[in-house]
Amino acid sequence: MTSEPKASRLLLLALLLVGAAAAAGGHDDAVARRTMEEFAGFPASDGDEGPSTAFRVDSEGLQRQIDELASFSDSPAPSVTRVLYSDKDVRARRYIKGIMNDLGLAVREDAVGNIFGRWEGSEAGLGAVGTGSHVDAIPFSGKYDGVVGVLGALEAISLLKRSGFQPKRSLEVIMFTSEEPTRFGISCLGSRLMAGIEELAQSLRKVVDNQNVSFLDAAESAGYKMDPKDLQSVFLKKNSYSAFIELHIEQGPILEKEGIPIGIVTAIAAPASITVEFEGNGGHAGAVLMPARNDAGLAAAELALAVEKHVLESGSIDTVGTVGILQLHPGAINSIPSKSHLEIDVRDIDEKRRNEVIEKIRRSATEISKNRGVVLSEFKIINQDPPALSDQSVVEAMEFAAKQLNLEYKKMISRAYHDSLFMARVSPMGMIFIPCYKGYSHKPEEYASPEDMANGVKVLALTMAKLSLE
Ligand code: GLV
Ligand code: MN
Ligand code: MN
Repeated sequence: MTSEPKASRLLLLALLLVGAAAAAGGHDDAVARRTMEEFAGFPASDGDEGPSTAFRVDSEGLQRQIDELASFSDSPAPSVTRVLYSDKDVRARRYIKGIMNDLGLAVREDAVGNIFGRWEGSEAGLGAVGTGSHVDAIPFSGKYDGVVGVLGALEAISLLKRSGFQPKRSLEVIMFTSEEPTRFGISCLGSRLMAGIEELAQSLRKVVDNQNVSFLDAAESAGYKMDPKDLQSVFLKKNSYSAFIELHIEQGPILEKEGIPIGIVTAIAAPASITVEFEGNGGHAGAVLMPARNDAGLAAAELALAVEKHVLESGSIDTVGTVGILQLHPGAINSIPSKSHLEIDVRDIDEKRRNEVIEKIRRSATEISKNRGVVLSEFKIINQDPPALSDQSVVEAMEFAAKQLNLEYKKMISRAYHDSLFMARVSPMGMIFIPCYKGYSHKPEEYASPEDMANGVKVLALTMAKLSLE
């Protein structure tokens, strides 16, 4: 065991040397690589020989874990459905905590079930370097979204441990509760609350799912019994993290198409979601003649088309809008819909432009209700989040890591939202993207190759190691 402290001191020294050389503008790749290799096994040459054993990701183990986690699903393979506080979600949580324990991390959970696995650094009082993502999965989705950022982060920690690294700032892996809005309509629930949003703490006291189960009851059934006052205890204390980095599949086609293994995210687009309800008279599908109808279903259909129109009118390819939920009541072929319910997702990298689209949708909803003689009984903006910018210091650390590993990278924006959108409010933030097959995501065909995942894990590990020593 005597060689371990020595190895870690060497690693520490080398990282500092490399960092200092880079900071001084005298970055010498060959020297840096050689120095890194001495203790951590980074490729010493130009990378042709592949990584040496000391800094090798356990790709088979990672894939095994991803496959095992995917078996906790409420829909048949290859699809994955894992909804907040369901039995499968609870099993997934147990699985993640088991891996954290096996890695020797100190595991804790907050009131809503955000799970933290901490590797204490030599200066544990300093803000930690955080990483992590989510493992909940929307209905009939795939097994990589979020999961790569949790299991991959745990593999990154394992890799650093195997390499003999000793962190100065603690390193912490977070499994966030409910990044997906499936159950309560609230995206990034865990990280949003960690960011200290008081209105969310208030609304979680009352919110119910579509089966009328309250958030508090659902949480209790998953083992998180809480007093509503406990919701504020989730808020992060200032400076808890000196940096937060999330590893995630791109969920778009760019990296794969361009053959680039790593994306370095510079900003996350601004998402918003809206619920709309129309109420009409309903009636018999045969007996009520067309002029006498107030069809809430047709109002919804017209609004869905208006969403598309207003999004396209923005003139920018970056504006996107989706009606992902459209429900009709009573839902019988021979009954005119008396109620309709829509859930609308609008996003843009330009917040102002996104907000203009929302206003147009609001005006259309009012006009449609007048023209069709139905009541617009709800137009509710559930969230209207601003975009988030990655922090320059984290971007630089990620670039440094990719360069050290001889991995080509591309700076890009994230069109999907992530827990990082909210972590950016409480910590310098950055994200690492890896390619995914044809850009598929939120569907069963979602796939990331073991090689791409290994690259992402290595960039994450090295980025965390570097930031841990700062
Ligand atoms: C996350 O799942 C998103 O919808 O962007
Ligand atoms: Mn998702
Ligand atoms: Mn995700």
